Amino acid sequence: MRFRHAVVTGGAGFLGSHLCAALLAEGTAVTCIDDMCTADPANVAGLLDQPGFTLRHADVCEPFDVSRPADLVLHFASPASPADYLRLPLHTLETGSLGTRNALALARAHGARMVLASTSEVYGDPQQHPQSETYWGHVNPVGPRSVYDEAKRFAEALTTAEAGVHGTDTGIVRLFNTYGPRMRDHDGRAVPTFIRQALAGEPLTVTGDGRQTRSLTYVDDTVAGVLAMAASDLRGPVNIGNPREMTMLELADLVIRLTGSDSGVRLVERPTDDPTVRCPDITLARGKLQWEPRTPAEEGLASTIAWYREPVAA
Ligand SMILES: NC(=O)c1ccc[n+]([C@@H]2O[C@H](COP(=O)([O-])OP(=O)(O)OC[C@H]3O[C@@H](n4cnc5c(N)ncnc54)[C@H](O)[C@@H]3O)[C@@H](O)[C@H]2O)c1
Repeated sequence: MRFRHAVVTGGAGFLGSHLCAALLAEGTAVTCIDDMCTADPANVAGLLDQPGFTLRHADVCEPFDVSRPADLVLHFASPASPADYLRLPLHTLETGSLGTRNALALARAHGARMVLASTSEVYGDPQQHPQSETYWGHVNPVGPRSVYDEAKRFAEALTTAEAGVHGTDTGIVRLFNTYGPRMRDHDGRAVPTFIRQALAGEPLTVTGDGRQTRSLTYVDDTVAGVLAMAASDLRGPVNIGNPREMTMLELADLVIRLTGSDSGVRLVERPTDDPTVRCPDITLARGKLQWEPRTPAEEGLASTIAWYREPVAA
């Protein structure tokens, strides 16, 4: 058992719910704090009966505390899919700024380690490939995606300043696209969209010419990377992602093959400021956390497809 009591903000979301389950499985008590703005309550329905699990409905933009000592804060609250943050632009900025301030204050008050979920989106539409943590990024500060990208960049700056000024034990992970069971099928991200369309026999809507690339990490691997970061004393930022790059057309073809669908592909307009390439350099995570993704795309997608065919509670 690594931690006695972890606070997971955004713990009822996709990644947060997998983190809550993994921590509980290690014997860590978990307080999940979530305002449910993009959560599916079913994500944590299976955890509610587990001893040590507490679900609290609260917005982290307001200061919050927990009644028993915490030794880990995983700050994962934030709308994360483009469809969500474009719908909730101010809430996204406030969660990245005020919410991060409040998560840091909680960690400081409890003497806990706090790990911030940052994102590969801090690299924007990158001019360096693959992206290492030393790359500063190429972000449009007033484009539609800026509400998310800049909120995370500010959150990283705030977390770094907090550690410098107050000596709070902090770590930053830059997560690259993660997929797996419990992604909402209409959240707009490529994997759930393609699976939903393939299972319905509809054409898979690929944006642009489909040659833009993404790195896709299966959720179990991302969870292992986050928990390795939590157990370390690294400040980061540390990239957690899969260096195996895939074009959107390759992903669509793979989903069609694995679902056995007879769907085709339909090219649609590409969103503004959509990055052309995305691939992590994970030298740091390999060297310092002994972490690298282990799940092949075929295997992770097969598990995800199976869950979409028959969702089971956490
Ligand atoms: N999934 C990915 O591929 C990915 C990649 C990079 C970074 N991240 C980061 O990981 C975190 C989780 O992402 P996800 O994919 O699980 O998204 P998600 O939308 O499924 O989960 C986010 C959770 O945060 C909650 N939330 C949002 N604002 C809140 C607030 N102000 N107070 C309390 N709760 C709030 C939502 O209700 C939701 O349960 C986010 O911080 C995201 O930026 C995710």
